[in-house]
Amino acid sequence: MLIHSNNKVHKMSRLYKLCGAIVLLLMLLASNSQVKAQDAAPAGGADAEKGKTLFTNNCAQCHSVTDEKVVGPGLKGIRDRAPGGDWLHKWIKNSSALIASGDQYANQVFNANGKIQMSSFPSLSDADIDGILAYVDQASAPAKPAAGGEQGNNTAPAGATASSGPSEMFTVVLVALLVVMLLVLGVLLVIVTILSKAVSPVTTTDGTQVPSAFGQKLRTGLSNAFNNPTLRSIVIWLFLLVAAKETIDGAYGVGIQQGYAPKQPIAYSHKLHAGQYKIDCNYCHTGAQKGKNATIPAANICMNCHGVIKKESPEIQKIYAAIENNRPIEWIRVHNLPDLAYFNHSQHVNVGNVACQTCHGEIEKMEVVEARTSLTMGWCIDCHRRTDVNTKDNAYYDKLVALHRKESKDPLKVANIGGLECSKCHY
Ligand code: HEC
Ligand code: HEC
Ligand code: HEC
Ligand code: HEC
Ligand code: HEC
Ligand code: HEC
Repeated sequence: MLIHSNNKVHKMSRLYKLCGAIVLLLMLLASNSQVKAQDAAPAGGADAEKGKTLFTNNCAQCHSVTDEKVVGPGLKGIRDRAPGGDWLHKWIKNSSALIASGDQYANQVFNANGKIQMSSFPSLSDADIDGILAYVDQASAPAKPAAGGEQGNNTAPAGATASSGPSEMFTVVLVALLVVMLLVLGVLLVIVTILSKAVSPVTTTDGTQVPSAFGQKLRTGLSNAFNNPTLRSIVIWLFLLVAAKETIDGAYGVGIQQGYAPKQPIAYSHKLHAGQYKIDCNYCHTGAQKGKNATIPAANICMNCHGVIKKESPEIQKIYAAIENNRPIEWIRVHNLPDLAYFNHSQHVNVGNVACQTCHGEIEKMEVVEARTSLTMGWCIDCHRRTDVNTKDNAYYDKLVALHRKESKDPLKVANIGGLECSKCHY
């Protein structure tokens, strides 16, 4: 008995030690992120916070803070790349003057980017520009922003800084998790203390120790529960059911894209073009009447109008850039069936006379295209069951309609002409 309670004390002290270790880890993490916050302080008084606003309002439409080219080159690592001194200040305030002055690097960048004129920013002060550059450094290497950061002194390769150390977000999540764990541990500790008091042997007046009544009840209660076959199978079945449901839900969700509305490379708006200016869908999606794919318009269709309309807009400049670089605009596809299914637009739009909006929703009201329907097999089949075939003025259907009339009084549905046959939709 004595040995037994010693053992318990031993276990408890282990629990306390574990708590201590976690507290220590938390403190370490906290101090570490403090050091990081100091690192992040803008170099030389440059205000990265203000720089962010300036960048978003003036530069973001043409530049990313990564390697990715938008209209102009990605600005990641720009301080390492550009000539030193106040070259960057001069360039950003008035790039064409710098190019005209014969500056070698300026001309090199200008020629490498299809000779597109960057806007001038004479109103930006040197401090503003330093702020923007500090923001670019920070945003392109969030883990270790501008360490030690004198201008142009950042010798570490940009790629290496970007991947070192956990991001701030990660640290926050980790700390939050640890706090929760600590709370749970605390509660467990309290329970263990109470229980061990309750079950610890009671010393009677004559010096012998007997197990407490509560302890005995608890022990028999628990072992009964474990040995009860009904209870055991209920628990197992519950577990299996939950696991099965999760798996099935997950499997059904694969490939379904309802609600998908990716940000497109150019802020093209259907609400403006198809809604306000009432441009016909078929003017741009020329394939819908004729073939399988509706097709996305090439940049030269945009140029029919934007050769003159709003040429100065940075968004329109992106169309020009695509044409000059001889590269198609990389629109992100919103609707996409898996290869195993066959869908033909002209069959629905032209022959079936189904409106675009029936399947795509009110595109003419969307600033950004969003997938409004699930595009699942059930969705296709459901419509084929409900929808009458458009037989008017279509001699092709005359015989079929006559045949159908003999068998049924209901109108001819898509289902009746083979719209539910597997091979119609599957290759
Ligand atoms: C209308 C689009 C546009 C805007 C807005 C714009 N830029 Fe540019 N930028 C360019 C283009 C295009 C180039 C490539 C050089 C050229 O063709 O003139 C460039 C080049 C640069 C370069 C040199 C890049 C290199 O790789 O050496 C820097 C630095 C730069 N821009 C900073 C800025 C900053 C900062 C702003 C905002 C204050 C800004 N740009 C706004 C289009 C733009
Ligand atoms: C001026 C040209 C133009 C007109 C007019 C136009 N569209 Fe578009 N449409 C586009 C471009 C460009 C895209 C690709 C970018 C995007 O998704 O916003 C697109 C994308 C789409 C998509 C998503 C394609 C995908 O990736 O799955 C649908 C659906 C669509 N349009 C339907 C319509 C309908 C319906 C109309 C008429 C109400 C219409 N469009 C009118 C140019 C046009
Ligand atoms: C039939 C003429 C026409 C066609 C074709 C056309 N647009 Fe437009 N677009 C307009 C008009 C009109 C405006 C509104 C201009 C204004 O606000 O002054 C506009 C505005 C825009 C704007 C907003 C510009 C801004 O900064 O306000 C973008 C972006 C745009 N169009 C992209 C495109 C793209 C991409 C295509 C090709 C897929 C395209 N347009 C095809 C007529 C057209
Ligand atoms: C019966 C339903 C239905 C109708 C009606 C319909 N679409 Fe579609 N649309 C789809 C489906 C399904 C897809 C995905 C096709 C794929 O991934 O093969 C799609 C894809 C698209 C795409 C992108 C891919 C492509 O085919 O180029 C565009 C653009 C589009 N539709 C425009 C239109 C326009 C414009 C109309 C009206 C003239 C229209 N759709 C009418 C169901 C429909
Ligand atoms: C909004 C209703 C609607 C939806 C949704 C729809 N269809 Fe249809 N579908 C029709 C109509 C109407 C016809 C009959 C056209 C005709 O007259 O030939 C048709 C015909 C067809 C046919 C030819 C059938 C035959 O026997 O000739 C195929 C194949 C087809 N659809 C595939 C699909 C696929 C695949 C989808 C889902 C991605 C789909 N449809 C979604 C309305 C729809
Ligand atoms: C009206 C068109 C249509 C008909 C008819 C049709 N399917 Fe499909 N089927 C589809 C589409 C569209 C998908 C893709 C659904 C998705 O991406 O979620 C699909 C997907 C599937 C899949 C892949 C599993 C899945 O759900 O994604 C199987 C298997 C399948 N169909 C079997 C059949 C069989 C068997 C028949 C005949 C009894 C049949 N289909 C008839 C349109 C059809």
